[in-house]
Amino acid sequence: MQVEILGSAEEGADFVAKLALGRLSGGETHNLLVSTGGTFKPIYQRLRTEPASTYDNVRFYNQDEYCVKKANGAWGMIDQDDPQSFRRFMREQLFADTTVPSKYSFFPGIRDRRFAGTYDRMIAGHGGIELALLGLGRNCHLGFNEPGESVSPFGSVTRFVELTPETRVANYDPAINEPVPPAAITVGLGTIGLSRELVVVAFGEHKSPAIQETIWGEVSPAIPSSMLRLPENIGKTLLVVDEAAAAEL
Ligand code: GLP
Repeated sequence: MQVEILGSAEEGADFVAKLALGRLSGGETHNLLVSTGGTFKPIYQRLRTEPASTYDNVRFYNQDEYCVKKANGAWGMIDQDDPQSFRRFMREQLFADTTVPSKYSFFPGIRDRRFAGTYDRMIAGHGGIELALLGLGRNCHLGFNEPGESVSPFGSVTRFVELTPETRVANYDPAINEPVPPAAITVGLGTIGLSRELVVVAFGEHKSPAIQETIWGEVSPAIPSSMLRLPENIGKTLLVVDEAAAAEL
């Protein structure tokens, strides 16, 4: 596993944006697995100013989306215009009023609740993910793969998950001031592991314990991001951190 330590989050965002654009210009990268979250806002700000031709035939597969209980008591996807929706996040941060074409934006859906892995089969049918750009939760989740063998085995596929109280606290946005939904559909750790290149991005002091555990903790689903150190993943993984997130290394 390689670790790239940049002086600041701004420098880190530059680094990740350049890396992604370099892969896209190489002509062999068409399918990106992408993340939401504050970490990616400055990265998307950089990507959205590129000329439209950069994104010809590029597909953006998001990792996850919230679920809410509908009026009839059944689980459904959060409304795409809800302020907490990740579909809205991507529209606002990357696709809206930019050169990036949102017609190539994909999300896991409620079908993955009934038929886990529907999204995985679609991704595989499109040739698989060449580059995964991943954020890291404070509890070491990737996507919404919360810690624990019973909830997020290393081979897990896209499925319905319940969120831990700590994730719901971490994702609370005072500007929205709504409770974070209790559940989501997320790609699995196995889905992520099928990507040909894994780039995990974490900035800020609050991420330093998670970075420390990712690199030095036990390789076990109790630390979901430790899947990056499985023999089949370690050689294709790059962690991009700023000095604050690297503080405990
Ligand atoms: C959410 C998402 C993750 C993301 C994480 C980090 O929980 N499901 O995919 O990586 O948040 O978010 P932030 O960048 O805001 O710290």
